[in-house]
Amino acid sequence: MNPAAAFGTREDPHAQARWARQQPLLLHSLSCFREIFELIYAHRVISTVVEVGAESGQMSTLYAELGATSVYCVDPAPNQTLRTAVAGNDALHLVERPSPDVLPELPPADLYVLDGDHNYATVRPELTWVLEHAPDAVIVLHDLLWPWSRRDLYYEPSRLTSEDRHPSSPDGPTIWHDELTPAGFVGLGAFTCSEEAGGERNGVLTAVEDALAAAGADWWLVLVPAIFGLGVVVRDEGGFHPLLEALRPYTDSRLLAMLENNRLALYTRVLQLQYEAVAHAADADALANTIAAQRHELDRLTEQAGLAQRQQAEIVRLNKENEQLKKAIAERPAGAIDLLKSLSARRRR
Ligand SMILES: C[S@@+](CC[C@H](N)C(=O)[O-])C[C@H]1O[C@@H](n2cnc3c(N)ncnc32)[C@H](O)[C@@H]1O
Repeated sequence: MNPAAAFGTREDPHAQARWARQQPLLLHSLSCFREIFELIYAHRVISTVVEVGAESGQMSTLYAELGATSVYCVDPAPNQTLRTAVAGNDALHLVERPSPDVLPELPPADLYVLDGDHNYATVRPELTWVLEHAPDAVIVLHDLLWPWSRRDLYYEPSRLTSEDRHPSSPDGPTIWHDELTPAGFVGLGAFTCSEEAGGERNGVLTAVEDALAAAGADWWLVLVPAIFGLGVVVRDEGGFHPLLEALRPYTDSRLLAMLENNRLALYTRVLQLQYEAVAHAADADALANTIAAQRHELDRLTEQAGLAQRQQAEIVRLNKENEQLKKAIAERPAGAIDLLKSLSARRRR
């Protein structure tokens, strides 16, 4: 990495900010671990890769770029970006089937990357199969840390038997309390997750621990505590293992672990604020509707009050006129009306 280009200079003080804003707000892809894969390729000959969970094909291309001649991109729901990536690269082969069932049908690989459905019932048989049938392969697993370390995620729950699934929810986990919440890390229709965390047969790390324990003492698991946790599993060579030594600055880093926790705390706080903002907007809409209805009612009442006021004024005016007429009658000169009557009778004769 060129520090001047990455972090800027006096003449170009915004380089770091530019780099930061080019990244997605939440880093989540294995592509962030390029330097880890470079170390793996530097220590092992990697010709064939089986990639479980290819998503956009970003990683598939990288495995080929680093030197693999065949990359089997396993994904039962490939999107167009993945199809385009595969169509444009002879080394990539799309396998539109779910793992683990498809694994025995693929050629043995030097590198298995397990990043498909993130639940115990899927990951445990995947890893068990690879440990048994490709003992010399390097195995990389993603999402070994929060939130899926001890809690199942289900992309395709219908593929699992009901005994293999925990009761699940569309709500998601958050760093800020232990219960699921609609303001948490939610799948928005793409996935659901186990209502409870922990216990047996729950979560990716639990699946990896159980698969390794059942396979015997011949395996090493190391963990890079960044971007949801990356696990590397290799066969124990009895002591010094150059790949694991090379990974040690990453796997032993408290700094990385701290940054990951801080990133998750910040991001889940952002999710909460976003959720609250949407809820407040809905409240504000409801309030605006209430105010509009009340204003309408107020106008109607004001109009009624105006009418009543005008009617009252008319009553007062008529009463006054009535009083004046009464007064005029009472004050007329005595016999004046009889005199007027006899005068008009004489004129007619
Ligand atoms: C977390 S994404 C993979 C991300 C990708 N490896 C990356 O780092 O860029 C998970 C992918 O696994 C796929 N998937 C879900 N269930 C699967 C299964 N049983 N076998 C293989 N892939 C699966 C999903 O369709 C999705 O594309």
